[in-house]
Amino acid sequence: MISLRNVYYRFPHATNNALDGISWEVKRGQYACICGANGSGKTTLLKHLNGLLKPTLGEVVIGEGHNSVNSAVCQQVGIIFQNPEIQIIGATVEEDIAFGPENLALPPPQIRQRIDQSLEKLGITHLRERETHTLSGGEKRLVAIAGILAMEPEVIAMDEPTAFLDYRAAQALRRVITELLATGITVIHITHCLEDALSADNIAIMGAGKILCSGTPQEVFSKKDLLQEAGIKIPPIAELLGRLKEQGFNIDSGAATTEAAYTQLLNLLQRSTA
Ligand SMILES: Nc1ncnc2c1ncn2[C@@H]1O[C@H](COP(=O)(O)OP(=O)(O)O)[C@@H](O)[C@H]1O
Ligand SMILES: [Mg+2]
Repeated sequence: MISLRNVYYRFPHATNNALDGISWEVKRGQYACICGANGSGKTTLLKHLNGLLKPTLGEVVIGEGHNSVNSAVCQQVGIIFQNPEIQIIGATVEEDIAFGPENLALPPPQIRQRIDQSLEKLGITHLRERETHTLSGGEKRLVAIAGILAMEPEVIAMDEPTAFLDYRAAQALRRVITELLATGITVIHITHCLEDALSADNIAIMGAGKILCSGTPQEVFSKKDLLQEAGIKIPPIAELLGRLKEQGFNIDSGAATTEAAYTQLLNLLQRSTA
């Protein structure tokens, strides 16, 4: 679905490559996460997915062998940028969400239908008539996502979407991600918090413009030294399970959600007291 092949990118006048030989694949319908410290190249990588930046060297292939330079392909990847302020341009929520479908030159009834569906999917139908400058940070983020959904992209890429959100808004956003995945949309989630990546099909750890390692959460969480070097904190539950496993307990340290960890620990405790 998405394939980066030996991609290099250097910003004009920069002395180092912001992307330094990236090869990565995301399959259709996957939940892929990119984790890395500040400045590791996450946002730069994202901007290559819809042709906003073009590789200095190497290629980005989206879908059935199209190069991302092709503008039709850009519509397949909707990007939610880190700061929703720059993405919201309409005076009202409805006008803002209409902007994308209008650009696709869809007939008005279809535009209205897409606005209705996007608002509903995100549970923000009540915000429809609101002036966008009166929205809270979390609401702006959801409106920005609704605007992207209305374009019906095959891939949605989000750049640290939970940053600046309070707990409840962040949980709502995680639910939205789960729902998008359930409808078959491919989701790429950039985060510096590995806890967000516990349920990923594919995690890429970035450091200094390179992918230091990639794989399932289980594969990635086992590389403690590498994560530490990349400045990434292992989720506490993954660390706890990993340490118990090192002590010889029969533990799946990759199943590190609270729920999965609870079930495993309960089994162990019940067995030891039986
Ligand atoms: N517009 C730009 N011009 C020059 N250098 C940039 C620009 N944007 C980012 N960089 C540099 O590229 C590197 C990667 O940045 P970025 O992709 O924003 O990292 P991240 O999103 O992981 O925090 C950093 O060293 C950053 O300073
Ligand atoms: Mg960034």
